[in-house]
Amino acid sequence: MLEEVILKLAAAESLPDSLPADPLLLLTQWYEQAKAAKSTPNPDAVALATATPDGHPSVRMVLCRHVEPDGSLMFYTNYDSRKSADLLANPRAAVVFHWDHQGRQARAEGFTVHATDQESDAYFNKRALLSRLGSWASKQSSPLASRKDLVTAVAQAATRLRVSIESLLSPKPAITIPRPPNWGGFRIWIDRLELWCGGSGRLHDRAAWIRQRTDGQSTLAPGQLPSFTPWQAQRLYP
Ligand SMILES: Cc1cc2nc3c(=O)[nH]c(=O)nc-3n(C[C@H](O)[C@H](O)[C@H](O)COP(=O)(O)O)c2cc1C
Repeated sequence: MLEEVILKLAAAESLPDSLPADPLLLLTQWYEQAKAAKSTPNPDAVALATATPDGHPSVRMVLCRHVEPDGSLMFYTNYDSRKSADLLANPRAAVVFHWDHQGRQARAEGFTVHATDQESDAYFNKRALLSRLGSWASKQSSPLASRKDLVTAVAQAATRLRVSIESLLSPKPAITIPRPPNWGGFRIWIDRLELWCGGSGRLHDRAAWIRQRTDGQSTLAPGQLPSFTPWQAQRLYP
């Protein structure tokens, strides 16, 4: 009786009583539902944590553009940025989604690999023209003397790449420009995933899934697939 009352008071979404052997369907559902809800401007935003090999952590927001059913996530960035320097030296990364309106959190940890050129090109070509020019102009994470210098660098990129003012002002410019070689995707192969549903009275529901690499490779080339053991699931005190 007492337990029934407490369960009712905690009323909120919970994870299935019997945890699914593979959590990726739930993760993709949560991601798609958050995007469909349109309750926040960037439902695909994650805090991305990286660390230098000597353990100096840093964290920043990025847009997680794909959550793949194979258990990987993709974000795009400048390959000379601080986060990229961290990931080059230490490919381990962690991200967290917080879908506040849905009362959900998803935490993923794993190792990162550069996207293939085709994957980076495909996403680059979908970006707004000004964002594409910005990727050429921005030396992300390097010192910038003034904001005007950035605007000048974008204008210089537009001139160099023959982008007209009409194209810049057009809502759908029919123009393709090449992708800068130092801009592209990072794929995070998840080996630990934690899903959290918020409940009243802090009676949240929380579970983690882990899997181990079985391919024995120390590094992966872009596009190369790792292999893993099956997931192991464990409910956790919130
Ligand atoms: C909501 C949001 C989304 C962002 N998305 C990206 C992104 O997808 N890629 C990116 O490189 N920076 C993105 N940024 C900027 C980063 O947070 C960060 O300032 C930048 O990448 C430089 O980080 P770094 O110096 O640690 O490499 C975003 C910022 C915010 C607030």
